[in-house]
Amino acid sequence: MSLAVLNETRMGASILRLFFHDCFVNGCDASVLLDDTSTFIGEKNAAPNANSLRGFEVIDTIKSLVEASCKATVSCADILALAARDGVNLLGGPTWTVLLGRRDARTASQSAANSNLPSLESSLQTLINLFATKGLTAKDMTALSGAHTIGQARCITFRSHIYSDTNINPTFAALRKKTCPQSGGDGNLAPIDVQTPIIFDNDYYQNLVAQRGLFHSDQELFNGGSQDSLVRTYSTSASTFTSDFVNAMIKMGNISPLTGTSGEIRLNCRKTN
Ligand code: HEM
Repeated sequence: MSLAVLNETRMGASILRLFFHDCFVNGCDASVLLDDTSTFIGEKNAAPNANSLRGFEVIDTIKSLVEASCKATVSCADILALAARDGVNLLGGPTWTVLLGRRDARTASQSAANSNLPSLESSLQTLINLFATKGLTAKDMTALSGAHTIGQARCITFRSHIYSDTNINPTFAALRKKTCPQSGGDGNLAPIDVQTPIIFDNDYYQNLVAQRGLFHSDQELFNGGSQDSLVRTYSTSASTFTSDFVNAMIKMGNISPLTGTSGEIRLNCRKTN
């Protein structure tokens, strides 16, 4: 059932990003799905998420279907992990076994979202350091960034890279400037992978080698630094990328889960029970 929902709405990319933004903020506990309440300000309106995260209604649909057939058993955190995997697979990517048993947080934190999620202006070293705080290596970081082989981004997120950075292919920059003006059009969308935006493949790395990374932070992975050789490897070996991506997704999905009697199994992913 969840597969049909993901397929119809082509929401795989958005759900994959939701999962990443969940796991990096206090672990994979579905905190990202909580609406603000009178007692806490949640993560949805944190800077990296506001007007940007999509796909909440798809998770709601999956959750209500799951609840209808099996009440109060499958957490929103596990649904996110499974839907992220299935979204990748439906777009032509690999599949893997998701370890289950995550429970849902009873709170969320806007400030934690602001400080734990990577910034677009990050240098390579900053990205490596941030992922290290989550127990992920530089290799994991480079492999997980291959998620940018699918999905779309708003003009506001890549404007400074296409207008001000010099490590960008001029033809590619010109193409993107057509729909991302120097001012205005902040919300105009462009595919992150210029080659195959709805296919999960290793083209993202080929783009980086050709200086066709859409974000400043993407191009940092191939800019004369420590990840250059791995980016080259992934650009020519889809199978190496795939196996490293799967390993890193499993690692990311295991960041600080709530288990046992911690947390709860939310009945509605947007609010605590
Ligand atoms: C390494 C640091 C990263 C940075 C700075 C970053 C930043 C961004 C930004 C700015 C967008 C566009 C958002 C918008 O237009 O509102 C985006 C989209 C996306 N990101 Fe990342 N990201 C990073 C890593 C990751 C990772 C690790 C994953 C998943 C494993 C991921 C998955 C995605 C996906 C799938 C999209 C497209 C979403 C959609 O189409 O709805 N990103 N990212």
